[in-house]
Amino acid sequence: MRDQFGRTIDYLRISVTDKCNLRCTYCMPVEGLDWIPRDEFLTYEEITSVVRQMADVGLRRIRLTGGEPLVRRDLPDLVHLLAGVPGIEDIALSTNAILLPQFGRELRDAGVRRLNVSLDTLRRERFRDMARRPERFFDATLEGIAEAERLGFAPLKINTVLMRGLNDDEVESFAEITKMRPWHVRFIELMPTGDNLHLSDRFLSTDSVLERLRRIGDLRPAQGPMGNGPATYFRFDGAPGSVGVITPLSHNYCDRCNRMRLTAEGKLRTCLFGTHEVDLKGPLRSGGDVMQAVRRALREKPEKHLLQIGSAKGSGGLRALSQVGG
Ligand code: 5AD
Ligand code: SF4
Repeated sequence: MRDQFGRTIDYLRISVTDKCNLRCTYCMPVEGLDWIPRDEFLTYEEITSVVRQMADVGLRRIRLTGGEPLVRRDLPDLVHLLAGVPGIEDIALSTNAILLPQFGRELRDAGVRRLNVSLDTLRRERFRDMARRPERFFDATLEGIAEAERLGFAPLKINTVLMRGLNDDEVESFAEITKMRPWHVRFIELMPTGDNLHLSDRFLSTDSVLERLRRIGDLRPAQGPMGNGPATYFRFDGAPGSVGVITPLSHNYCDRCNRMRLTAEGKLRTCLFGTHEVDLKGPLRSGGDVMQAVRRALREKPEKHLLQIGSAKGSGGLRALSQVGG
């Protein structure tokens, strides 16, 4: 699959639910969002049908996201189905890790190889303010990460959204971990969506972060762990892990975009932001031509996102990334 700007699209991010067991401040209001009704979700069979048809024309890699994907019932069943699709070479999962002690083994056995774990703080008491859940959820997150390591998920990527004055004092602590363990910590710039504009003045460019990291060690550009993403990686001399930065605002990387997104309710989105989406559930349920809709979406994939710091304009009416699978 190739778009009109010559980008090869071989990666699909699939959001399986918009719900989550945390309430990270930049992502969701405490009271939650207007959840998608459950009968609006694509079934696992429908998701697999989309993947099978797209794999016929070049889809190779998949990531399951949410919300929190593990709050959807029987997720390992979906992994099983997807792992059986000819052409699919890689199935990854983005999670907050809380339910990994419960589902990690089954997920691995079903075919998940790689995990991204969201972790914005290493401080127990701070987690309460950032994820707005009691401290035992922080303990559960760390247990989930430990279980992921025991189960041999590798590489283990950690996603950390940085916010000035809230967790940016932990940059060095996160980075120090990569000197001791094979964690790949990726610092992500805060992206503006409808519900997080109150955090706009917390935005922090990753350029300043790299400057700080150079003060605590010899930081060299590095080959990242295997993956499909836009992160730029660095490594401290001799470190088993790496640090990466994801810079949607300070350095646009849309020219390297290789992906589309499928929302939980079956809309194919060619860009995280913007209003463009094509419905696949209609054709799926009426026996229509799914690939015709996919081709239409591909033709209309925009050249780049139009996000601006402090404005919801570029987000295309999104309240939170959990609605489209960050
Ligand atoms: N800006 C940046 N990152 C975000 N994420 C969710 N919402 C935002 C946002 N507004 C991150 C999560 C998770 C990843 C999938 O996306 O923290 O790690
Ligand atoms: Fe949940 Fe992830 Fe959103 Fe946090 S960022 S509330 S873990 S979906």
